[in-house]
Amino acid sequence: MKERIYRVRAGIPHTIALLSDLHGKDGKEILKILTRCRPSLIAVSGDLFLDHAQEGDSLIDLQPKVVPLLRGCAELAPTYISLGNHEWLASPADILALQSTGAVLLDNEWVRDEGTGLLIGGLTSAMVMDFRRFRKKHTPEHPYPKAKRHVDGLVLHPSVKWLRTFEEQDGYKVLLCHHPEYWCLQTPMLRDHPIDLVLSGHAHGGQIRLFGHGLYSPGQGFLPRYTGGVYTGPQGRLIVSRGLVNTAPRPIPRLFNPREVVIIDLH
Ligand SMILES: [Fe+2]
Repeated sequence: MKERIYRVRAGIPHTIALLSDLHGKDGKEILKILTRCRPSLIAVSGDLFLDHAQEGDSLIDLQPKVVPLLRGCAELAPTYISLGNHEWLASPADILALQSTGAVLLDNEWVRDEGTGLLIGGLTSAMVMDFRRFRKKHTPEHPYPKAKRHVDGLVLHPSVKWLRTFEEQDGYKVLLCHHPEYWCLQTPMLRDHPIDLVLSGHAHGGQIRLFGHGLYSPGQGFLPRYTGGVYTGPQGRLIVSRGLVNTAPRPIPRLFNPREVVIIDLH
């Protein structure tokens, strides 16, 4: 695990720590890095959990290391969370438990952070929204189709109506958005929106990195474009974390692709 530092010209002096893809693993090493780096704000851009569970299971009970990490984060700095695809099974009780840590869950909503003045939005994964829509239409006797669980490509769409009000606000806008493919491969094509900084994860650095490029990412396929680093668009930037843990099943290795806490130095 290492910290990777990016400097971004923003006209305001703040430090944002970006955490993504914890997938239920231990967060002690992460808290040590955060304590040393002392960010002014912590952004958790989804996939706190791993979705290897059944509907009705308590993700919080099955993956008890998530809450201590969030509590530790919230003690260090204002902490904001958006929901990734692996959160599709998070029950109302799981959501309450996340909120009780002191971190602020942004589920297709935005707030102005009082300490920094930054506007922070959280765009919920289309996978979560698809499950919610399915559950509204079908009673629990109808399980969510397994085939849909890993279709996070072009088929599903996030809810974006709320983005307009967020984008109309005055101030530096930071959007937590788990999926980097929403930048310019899939609607809402955030690259064309007036958002200063989009913070993503999901790609796990492409799992195996060769010559600076990732090999594979969910939602982008082989030789993906957005796996880690800073990408500049006409209106703002996308920063993609390579993730906090390795989740690929054996025998797939994570190669030349260290796990990371991203530190964004706005200056
Ligand atoms: Fe993900």
